[in-house]
Amino acid sequence: MATLLLNTSHLLTMSGGSGRMGKRGAALSSVEQRERGAMLFDEHVLWVGDVGEAEAAAAGLGVRVEAVVDAGGRVVMPGFVDPHTHIVFAGSRAHEFAARLRGATYLEIAAGGGGILSTMRAVRGASAEEMAELAAPRILKAMRHGTTTMEIKSGYGLSLDAELEQLRAVKILGAQLPVRLVPTFLGAHDFPPEYAGNRDAYVDIVVNEMIPAVAEENLAEYCDVFTDEGYYTVEQSERILNAAVDAGLKVRVHADEFVCLDAAVMAARLGAHSADHLLQISDAGIEALSQVPTVATLLPGTAFFLRLPYAPARSLVERGVAVALATDCNPGSSNCVSMQMMIWLATMQMRMTVEEALNAATINAAVALGREAVVGSLEVGKKADFLILDVATPAEIAYEYGVNHVEQTWIGGKKAM
Ligand code: NIG
Ligand code: FE
Repeated sequence: MATLLLNTSHLLTMSGGSGRMGKRGAALSSVEQRERGAMLFDEHVLWVGDVGEAEAAAAGLGVRVEAVVDAGGRVVMPGFVDPHTHIVFAGSRAHEFAARLRGATYLEIAAGGGGILSTMRAVRGASAEEMAELAAPRILKAMRHGTTTMEIKSGYGLSLDAELEQLRAVKILGAQLPVRLVPTFLGAHDFPPEYAGNRDAYVDIVVNEMIPAVAEENLAEYCDVFTDEGYYTVEQSERILNAAVDAGLKVRVHADEFVCLDAAVMAARLGAHSADHLLQISDAGIEALSQVPTVATLLPGTAFFLRLPYAPARSLVERGVAVALATDCNPGSSNCVSMQMMIWLATMQMRMTVEEALNAATINAAVALGREAVVGSLEVGKKADFLILDVATPAEIAYEYGVNHVEQTWIGGKKAM
């Protein structure tokens, strides 16, 4: 049995980027689409074409069309893939936001014991069930704004037990909600105060205790490290990421956000799926990413929220790097669940075109999560994760800003929102 989607204005399939290299260069500026396209789907996409051919297509596939979804003359596109979030947390940092508005900087607040460590204290006092309960409404909000696949990191526990508990919250959420979740272990997000004077001892714990425990309980698919001045050195990061690979995890990196340590070069060298942030990426970093599958995941919400210069998206695109977009949703540096907001910032502030931003928020984001064969475009065999938007042309998604264009969110062929 199948459902027929019809009466779209444009069906954006975003096809043609499902390889490990993602969409780059000229391919990044093309959005494959069918005017008034139709789609047959069950849990997966079964067929895409013109509505007049749907019946014959269904017969050819041996499926009966048992339901029809009328898109009402609107744009339909793949669900957004958000490849970088810290959406599971406890506590609030609204007071830090207020302090920043009065002139304090993010790094000053962190140096004063706030920042990541203030969320750490709240997370250490919460159970997996409590954290899942706090995160569920945030994730539902993201789904209403079109997110159908989301990566979620730990990194606010900073002890063996609290990190595992945070990842268990992700597991609970994955079982409760239809959204596809990808868990990442980020024990190396900061150094807990217990190890302030002996950072390498904490690195030892990450390598010798946390990574094996995460792998043993199968709680994460990726391992991430915050490589930056005042956080993890390249040497410490490499030690951690190599241990993660040995334990069967894939890797991604918070790279060159505040200070350039050439963490992007390291990410390329280690075969990371993605190097994220990149506000301060060097020329060597751009060159390195242009040669490898590692995706440059840009988080313009962070630059916006911290009033920092944006990542050099144009240089990355023009030099042939695969660029993705993500929210970085977290309580300190980007309190936002909306991929549409990232598209507005990408187009207006990072000078990406609408086509580049749409590819970056779907298929390239799927590549950044190693999910390119499963989601990120509407092609036969992929999951039927799609959005019905309240616009008639793709450009309007970026043109009218500050509103939610998503009218319906479908995940795995079922209406989720
Ligand atoms: O991606 N850069 C490091 N970590 C987060 C911020 C987390 C926080 O402030 O709570 C980020 O921006
Ligand atoms: Fe982050």
